[in-house]
Amino acid sequence: MHISGPEALLDVCGISAGYGKIAVLHGVDVRVGAGEVVSLLGPNGAGKTTLLRALTGLLSVTAGSVRFADRDMKDAGPRGSARAGLVHVVEGHRIFTQLSVTDNLLLAAYDLPRRERAARVEEALSVFPEIAAKRHDRGGMLSGGQQQMLAVAQGLVRRPRLLLLDEPSAGLSPVLVDRVLGVVADLRDTGTAVLLVEQLIDKALAVSDRVYAMAQGRVVLQARADEPGLHQRLERAYFGEAAAA
Ligand SMILES: Nc1ncnc2c1ncn2[C@@H]1O[C@H](COP(=O)(O)OP(=O)(O)OP(=O)(O)O)[C@@H](O)[C@H]1O
Ligand SMILES: [Mg+2]
Repeated sequence: MHISGPEALLDVCGISAGYGKIAVLHGVDVRVGAGEVVSLLGPNGAGKTTLLRALTGLLSVTAGSVRFADRDMKDAGPRGSARAGLVHVVEGHRIFTQLSVTDNLLLAAYDLPRRERAARVEEALSVFPEIAAKRHDRGGMLSGGQQQMLAVAQGLVRRPRLLLLDEPSAGLSPVLVDRVLGVVADLRDTGTAVLLVEQLIDKALAVSDRVYAMAQGRVVLQARADEPGLHQRLERAYFGEAAAA
């Protein structure tokens, strides 16, 4: 069964990628429609982070194709991807701890026209009043949750058409998890597409239109997020693969 979203903004077809001689992704197909929120689930080591890295040029794609907004992205590299509106917030909220919140955001906007930068920073801060109030503080002074918000805000500065979020809830308290995933729901309302890697299945599904599950470098399930019996199917997809290993 192939479920296509609205029109495909991201169209990933049969890609392979890995680290040196270690092949990790084996012919992965993923589509994300304009304005869609899609969850990417799967056990540890399934290849979720590797897929995001391959999509945004942090890793080379060794086979298959990556099209974004009708452009071939295979050789675009991280900068080319970000410029095209395919923006990756990497796992582990990597921010500059010695720079202020504002400077972290200005840095994310470094290649935008100078006159636009301040406005983009304000736009991103308006999504996170918690960190707007700390705009002059160094990144390292923020709590873990606020650092994660800052990392997402760095992505938003670029006005992404598709935001790739790698475990934005990792290490956050339940309240902050809801806060960060609530922002994903808000982005959806404004027409920004999101590909969300999450360990918290229920919370991810609650804000998603569709879901892919990966195991051992392959997509093992795709479904609508509200499909009846999805939990059982996900469990089989996760553990079935693990049991077969
Ligand atoms: N830098 C690396 N060098 C070599 N192998 C790697 C590297 N990073 C990841 N791998 C391997 O690639 C496979 C997929 O890892 P990846 O990080 O993509 O999984 P994941 O689905 O994101 O897992 P997690 O849920 O733990 O974040 C794993 O077997 C992992 O050991
Ligand atoms: Mg990962």
